[in-house]
Amino acid sequence: MSPSASKRKINLKRIGHVYYSHKNLEIAHQFLLDFGLIPVRRTEDTIYYRGYGTEPFIYCAKKGTEDTFGGTAWVVDSISDLELATSLPGATPIHDSDAPGGGKRVTFYEPVDNCPWHLVYGQEAVEMAQTFSELSYNFPTSKHRPVNQTQRFKKGPAPVHKIGHFGLCVTDYNTAFGFYLENFNFKPSEVIFNPDTKSDITTFLHLDRGSEWVDHHSFFFFEGPSFHVHHSSFEVFDFDIQMLGHQHLVEKGYDNCWGVGRHVMGSQIFDYWFDKSGFVLEHYVDGDLVNEDTPTNRVEAKDAHLHIWGMCLFGGG
Ligand SMILES: [Fe+2]
Repeated sequence: MSPSASKRKINLKRIGHVYYSHKNLEIAHQFLLDFGLIPVRRTEDTIYYRGYGTEPFIYCAKKGTEDTFGGTAWVVDSISDLELATSLPGATPIHDSDAPGGGKRVTFYEPVDNCPWHLVYGQEAVEMAQTFSELSYNFPTSKHRPVNQTQRFKKGPAPVHKIGHFGLCVTDYNTAFGFYLENFNFKPSEVIFNPDTKSDITTFLHLDRGSEWVDHHSFFFFEGPSFHVHHSSFEVFDFDIQMLGHQHLVEKGYDNCWGVGRHVMGSQIFDYWFDKSGFVLEHYVDGDLVNEDTPTNRVEAKDAHLHIWGMCLFGGG
Protein backbone atom coordinates (compact mmCIF):
# COMPACT_ATOMS: atom_id res chain seq x y z
CA MET A 1 0.00 0.00 0.00
CA SER A 2 1.43 3.40 -0.93
CA PRO A 3 1.93 6.03 1.81
CA SER A 4 -0.87 8.19 0.39
CA ALA A 5 -3.27 5.23 0.27
CA SER A 6 -2.61 4.50 3.94
CA LYS A 7 -3.02 8.11 5.11
CA ARG A 8 -5.45 8.23 7.99
CA LYS A 9 -8.70 9.97 7.16
CA ILE A 10 -10.96 12.01 9.40
CA ASN A 11 -14.09 9.96 10.05
CA LEU A 12 -17.24 12.00 9.61
CA LYS A 13 -20.31 10.46 11.24
CA ARG A 14 -23.00 12.72 9.86
CA ILE A 15 -23.73 16.28 8.79
CA GLY A 16 -24.85 18.19 11.88
CA HIS A 17 -25.72 21.80 11.18
CA VAL A 18 -25.20 24.77 8.88
CA TYR A 19 -24.37 28.46 9.29
CA TYR A 20 -25.77 31.42 7.38
CA SER A 21 -25.43 35.16 7.99
CA HIS A 22 -28.29 37.44 7.02
CA LYS A 23 -28.40 41.23 6.73
CA ASN A 24 -31.99 41.13 7.94
CA LEU A 25 -32.14 38.54 10.71
CA GLU A 26 -35.84 39.11 11.47
CA ILE A 27 -36.93 38.40 7.90
CA ALA A 28 -34.63 35.35 7.78
CA HIS A 29 -36.14 34.18 11.07
CA GLN A 30 -39.70 34.35 9.75
CA PHE A 31 -38.74 32.29 6.68
CA LEU A 32 -37.06 29.64 8.85
CA LEU A 33 -40.20 29.36 11.01
CA ASP A 34 -42.30 28.97 7.87
CA PHE A 35 -39.77 26.40 6.59
CA GLY A 36 -40.40 24.24 9.68
CA LEU A 37 -37.43 24.91 11.99
CA ILE A 38 -37.71 25.35 15.77
CA PRO A 39 -35.76 28.16 17.50
CA VAL A 40 -33.92 26.90 20.59
CA ARG A 41 -31.65 29.75 21.62
CA ARG A 42 -31.52 33.41 20.76
CA THR A 43 -28.94 36.11 21.48
CA GLU A 44 -28.89 39.64 20.10
CA ASP A 45 -27.29 38.57 16.81
CA THR A 46 -27.62 34.77 16.62
CA ILE A 47 -30.54 32.32 16.49
CA TYR A 48 -30.07 28.55 16.71
CA TYR A 49 -32.78 26.25 15.32
CA ARG A 50 -33.33 22.55 15.82
CA GLY A 51 -35.40 20.07 13.85
CA TYR A 52 -37.66 17.56 15.58
CA GLY A 53 -34.83 14.98 15.55
CA THR A 54 -32.10 14.47 18.11
CA GLU A 55 -29.53 17.05 16.91
CA PRO A 56 -29.23 19.95 19.40
CA PHE A 57 -29.39 22.37 16.47
CA ILE A 58 -29.30 22.08 12.68
CA TYR A 59 -29.27 25.72 11.48
CA CYS A 60 -27.56 28.77 12.94
CA ALA A 61 -28.60 32.20 11.65
CA LYS A 62 -26.35 35.15 12.44
CA LYS A 63 -26.89 38.82 11.78
CA GLY A 64 -24.22 40.00 9.33
CA THR A 65 -23.26 42.92 7.13
CA GLU A 66 -23.65 40.62 4.11
CA ASP A 67 -25.80 37.59 3.29
CA THR A 68 -23.17 34.87 3.49
CA PHE A 69 -22.85 31.11 3.83
CA GLY A 70 -20.82 30.14 6.89
CA GLY A 71 -20.20 26.46 6.14
CA THR A 72 -21.52 23.18 7.49
CA ALA A 73 -20.56 21.33 10.66
CA TRP A 74 -19.95 17.58 10.76
CA VAL A 75 -20.04 15.25 13.73
CA VAL A 76 -16.81 13.19 13.93
CA ASP A 77 -16.20 9.77 15.49
CA SER A 78 -13.60 10.67 18.12
CA ILE A 79 -11.46 13.37 19.65
CA SER A 80 -8.54 11.99 17.62
CA ASP A 81 -10.44 12.99 14.46
CA LEU A 82 -10.51 16.56 15.77
CA GLU A 83 -6.78 16.34 16.54
CA LEU A 84 -6.14 15.22 12.99
CA ALA A 85 -8.20 18.16 11.68
CA THR A 86 -5.97 20.73 13.42
CA SER A 87 -3.39 20.14 10.67
CA LEU A 88 -5.82 21.16 7.88
CA PRO A 89 -5.52 24.61 6.19
CA GLY A 90 -6.35 27.51 8.52
CA ALA A 91 -7.44 25.14 11.30
CA THR A 92 -8.23 26.43 14.76
CA PRO A 93 -7.07 24.55 17.84
CA ILE A 94 -9.63 22.24 19.47
CA HIS A 95 -11.91 24.42 21.56
CA ASP A 96 -15.10 24.14 23.61
CA SER A 97 -18.33 24.99 21.79
CA ASP A 98 -20.76 27.44 23.36
CA ALA A 99 -23.50 26.42 20.90
CA PRO A 100 -26.49 24.26 21.98
CA GLY A 101 -25.28 20.73 22.71
CA GLY A 102 -21.77 21.91 23.60
CA GLY A 103 -18.91 19.56 22.71
CA LYS A 104 -15.55 20.35 21.21
CA ARG A 105 -14.84 21.69 17.76
CA VAL A 106 -12.32 22.64 15.11
CA THR A 107 -12.87 24.98 12.14
CA PHE A 108 -10.72 24.83 9.02
CA TYR A 109 -10.84 26.34 5.52
CA GLU A 110 -10.81 24.11 2.45
CA PRO A 111 -7.96 25.07 0.12
CA VAL A 112 -9.81 25.65 -3.17
CA ASP A 113 -12.26 28.44 -2.30
CA ASN A 114 -11.51 29.01 1.40
CA CYS A 115 -14.95 27.89 2.56
CA PRO A 116 -15.10 27.25 6.31
CA TRP A 117 -15.82 23.71 7.55
CA HIS A 118 -16.59 22.88 11.16
CA LEU A 119 -16.05 19.57 12.94
CA VAL A 120 -17.77 18.72 16.23
CA TYR A 121 -17.27 15.98 18.80
CA GLY A 122 -19.13 15.28 22.05
CA GLN A 123 -22.31 17.25 21.44
CA GLU A 124 -25.20 16.26 23.68
CA ALA A 125 -28.19 14.89 21.78
CA VAL A 126 -31.71 16.11 22.55
CA GLU A 127 -34.98 14.20 22.81
CA MET A 128 -37.11 13.90 19.67
CA ALA A 129 -39.51 16.83 19.72
CA GLN A 130 -42.29 15.20 17.70
CA THR A 131 -43.31 11.84 16.33
CA PHE A 132 -45.35 10.99 13.25
CA SER A 133 -47.36 7.92 12.31
CA GLU A 134 -46.54 6.16 9.06
CA LEU A 135 -49.62 6.38 6.86
CA SER A 136 -51.51 3.36 5.62
CA TYR A 137 -52.11 3.64 1.86
CA ASN A 138 -54.85 2.14 -0.21
CA PHE A 139 -53.68 0.78 -3.56
CA PRO A 140 -56.01 -0.40 -6.35
CA THR A 141 -55.91 -4.06 -5.39
CA SER A 142 -54.27 -3.84 -1.97
CA LYS A 143 -56.06 -1.89 0.74
CA HIS A 144 -54.20 -1.02 3.94
CA ARG A 145 -56.72 1.24 5.65
CA PRO A 146 -59.75 -0.28 7.35
CA VAL A 147 -63.21 0.86 6.34
CA ASN A 148 -64.13 4.32 7.66
CA GLN A 149 -60.52 5.19 8.50
CA THR A 150 -59.71 8.54 6.88
CA GLN A 151 -56.58 10.50 5.99
CA ARG A 152 -56.77 13.93 7.65
CA PHE A 153 -54.03 16.51 7.89
CA LYS A 154 -53.31 19.78 9.66
CA LYS A 155 -52.20 22.73 7.55
CA GLY A 156 -48.94 24.48 8.38
CA PRO A 157 -45.16 24.35 7.96
CA ALA A 158 -43.48 20.98 7.32
CA PRO A 159 -41.61 20.09 10.52
CA VAL A 160 -37.97 19.46 9.60
CA HIS A 161 -36.30 16.30 10.92
CA LYS A 162 -32.62 16.86 10.14
CA ILE A 163 -30.16 18.43 7.72
CA GLY A 164 -29.42 15.80 5.09
CA HIS A 165 -26.95 17.31 2.65
CA PHE A 166 -25.54 20.46 1.15
CA GLY A 167 -23.86 21.40 -2.11
CA LEU A 168 -21.15 23.78 -3.30
CA CYS A 169 -20.12 25.28 -6.62
CA VAL A 170 -16.31 25.08 -6.53
CA THR A 171 -13.80 26.74 -8.87
CA ASP A 172 -11.52 23.70 -9.29
CA TYR A 173 -13.32 20.35 -9.32
CA ASN A 174 -10.28 18.09 -9.45
CA THR A 175 -8.41 19.80 -6.60
CA ALA A 176 -11.56 19.83 -4.47
CA PHE A 177 -12.21 16.15 -5.22
CA GLY A 178 -8.64 15.28 -4.21
CA PHE A 179 -8.81 17.28 -0.99
CA TYR A 180 -12.13 15.88 0.25
CA LEU A 181 -11.39 12.26 -0.63
CA GLU A 182 -7.86 12.32 0.70
CA ASN A 183 -8.79 13.80 4.07
CA PHE A 184 -12.28 12.45 4.83
CA ASN A 185 -14.31 9.25 4.56
CA PHE A 186 -16.26 10.61 1.59
CA LYS A 187 -16.98 8.17 -1.23
CA PRO A 188 -18.67 9.06 -4.53
CA SER A 189 -22.13 7.64 -5.09
CA GLU A 190 -22.23 9.37 -8.47
CA VAL A 191 -19.64 11.03 -10.69
CA ILE A 192 -20.95 13.06 -13.63
CA PHE A 193 -18.77 13.88 -16.63
CA ASN A 194 -18.98 16.32 -19.49
CA PRO A 195 -19.84 14.19 -22.58
CA ASP A 196 -17.68 16.40 -24.85
CA THR A 197 -14.51 16.73 -22.77
CA LYS A 198 -15.05 13.51 -20.76
CA SER A 199 -13.81 15.37 -17.68
CA ASP A 200 -15.61 14.97 -14.36
CA ILE A 201 -17.67 18.01 -13.39
CA THR A 202 -20.03 17.00 -10.56
CA THR A 203 -20.03 14.45 -7.75
CA PHE A 204 -22.49 13.29 -5.11
CA LEU A 205 -20.65 11.94 -2.06
CA HIS A 206 -21.80 9.72 0.79
CA LEU A 207 -20.02 9.00 4.04
CA ASP A 208 -18.19 5.68 3.93
CA ARG A 209 -19.38 4.02 7.15
CA GLY A 210 -18.69 0.43 6.05
CA SER A 211 -21.80 -1.75 6.13
CA GLU A 212 -23.91 0.96 7.84
CA TRP A 213 -26.73 2.32 5.67
CA VAL A 214 -26.14 6.00 4.95
CA ASP A 215 -27.79 8.66 2.80
CA HIS A 216 -26.93 8.50 -0.92
CA HIS A 217 -25.29 11.92 -0.60
CA SER A 218 -24.56 14.25 2.27
CA PHE A 219 -22.34 16.54 0.17
CA PHE A 220 -22.15 17.31 -3.53
CA PHE A 221 -20.16 19.78 -5.57
CA PHE A 222 -19.72 20.84 -9.15
CA GLU A 223 -17.34 23.19 -10.94
CA GLY A 224 -18.33 26.71 -11.91
CA PRO A 225 -16.80 30.13 -12.44
CA SER A 226 -17.47 31.49 -8.95
CA PHE A 227 -17.68 29.78 -5.59
CA HIS A 228 -21.05 29.71 -3.84
CA VAL A 229 -23.25 27.46 -1.78
CA HIS A 230 -25.79 25.75 -4.04
CA HIS A 231 -28.30 24.69 -1.41
CA SER A 232 -28.75 23.04 1.97
CA SER A 233 -31.31 20.28 2.27
CA PHE A 234 -33.56 19.21 5.12
CA GLU A 235 -35.50 15.99 5.52
CA VAL A 236 -39.20 16.01 6.35
CA PHE A 237 -41.36 13.04 7.32
CA ASP A 238 -43.31 12.05 4.24
CA PHE A 239 -44.76 13.30 0.99
CA ASP A 240 -47.96 14.67 2.53
CA ILE A 241 -45.96 16.65 5.10
CA GLN A 242 -43.72 17.88 2.28
CA MET A 243 -46.73 19.04 0.23
CA LEU A 244 -48.36 20.65 3.28
CA GLY A 245 -45.09 22.55 3.76
CA HIS A 246 -45.06 23.48 0.07
CA GLN A 247 -48.61 24.79 0.32
CA HIS A 248 -47.71 26.78 3.44
CA LEU A 249 -44.73 28.44 1.73
CA VAL A 250 -46.89 29.22 -1.35
CA GLU A 251 -49.56 30.82 0.83
CA LYS A 252 -46.91 32.89 2.64
CA GLY A 253 -45.75 34.27 -0.72
CA TYR A 254 -42.22 32.84 -0.82
CA ASP A 255 -40.47 32.15 -4.14
CA ASN A 256 -40.32 28.52 -5.19
CA CYS A 257 -37.03 27.62 -6.89
CA TRP A 258 -37.75 24.14 -8.21
CA GLY A 259 -40.22 21.49 -7.18
CA VAL A 260 -41.96 19.49 -6.13
CA GLY A 261 -40.22 16.79 -8.20
CA ARG A 262 -38.39 13.46 -8.05
CA HIS A 263 -34.61 13.30 -8.56
CA VAL A 264 -32.89 10.46 -10.40
CA MET A 265 -29.57 10.46 -8.52
CA GLY A 266 -30.54 9.81 -4.89
CA SER A 267 -34.21 9.32 -5.88
CA GLN A 268 -35.48 11.84 -3.35
CA ILE A 269 -38.61 13.93 -3.82
CA PHE A 270 -37.32 17.49 -3.75
CA ASP A 271 -38.78 20.94 -3.12
CA TYR A 272 -36.37 23.89 -3.38
CA TRP A 273 -37.21 27.34 -2.00
CA PHE A 274 -35.52 30.74 -1.97
CA ASP A 275 -35.24 32.35 1.44
CA LYS A 276 -35.50 36.14 1.55
CA SER A 277 -31.69 36.48 1.36
CA GLY A 278 -31.59 34.52 -1.90
CA PHE A 279 -30.24 31.24 -0.46
CA VAL A 280 -31.84 27.99 -1.59
CA LEU A 281 -33.11 25.53 1.02
CA GLU A 282 -34.66 22.17 0.15
CA HIS A 283 -37.25 19.95 1.78
CA TYR A 284 -36.80 16.31 0.76
CA VAL A 285 -38.29 12.89 1.47
CA ASP A 286 -37.61 9.31 0.42
CA GLY A 287 -33.90 9.48 -0.45
CA ASP A 288 -31.85 6.37 -1.31
CA LEU A 289 -29.51 4.65 1.13
CA VAL A 290 -26.10 3.20 0.25
CA ASN A 291 -23.21 1.39 1.96
CA GLU A 292 -19.82 -0.14 1.21
CA ASP A 293 -21.37 -2.52 -1.32
CA THR A 294 -22.71 0.35 -3.45
CA PRO A 295 -20.60 0.89 -6.57
CA THR A 296 -19.83 4.41 -7.78
CA ASN A 297 -22.05 5.26 -10.75
CA ARG A 298 -20.37 7.30 -13.50
CA VAL A 299 -22.76 9.01 -15.92
CA GLU A 300 -22.66 11.77 -18.50
CA ALA A 301 -24.27 15.10 -17.72
CA LYS A 302 -27.74 15.54 -19.18
CA ASP A 303 -31.02 16.98 -17.98
CA ALA A 304 -32.69 13.55 -18.00
CA HIS A 305 -30.35 12.51 -15.18
CA LEU A 306 -31.50 15.37 -12.96
CA HIS A 307 -35.15 14.58 -12.43
CA ILE A 308 -37.82 12.22 -13.72
CA TRP A 309 -40.83 14.40 -12.94
CA GLY A 310 -41.51 17.70 -11.34
CA MET A 311 -43.04 21.11 -11.42
CA CYS A 312 -40.94 24.09 -12.35
CA LEU A 313 -42.65 27.25 -11.10
CA PHE A 314 -39.85 29.79 -10.94
CA GLY A 315 -36.57 28.69 -12.51
CA GLY A 316 -34.42 25.61 -12.41
CA GLY A 317 -34.62 22.82 -14.96
FE1 LIG B 1 -30.51 18.56 -2.67
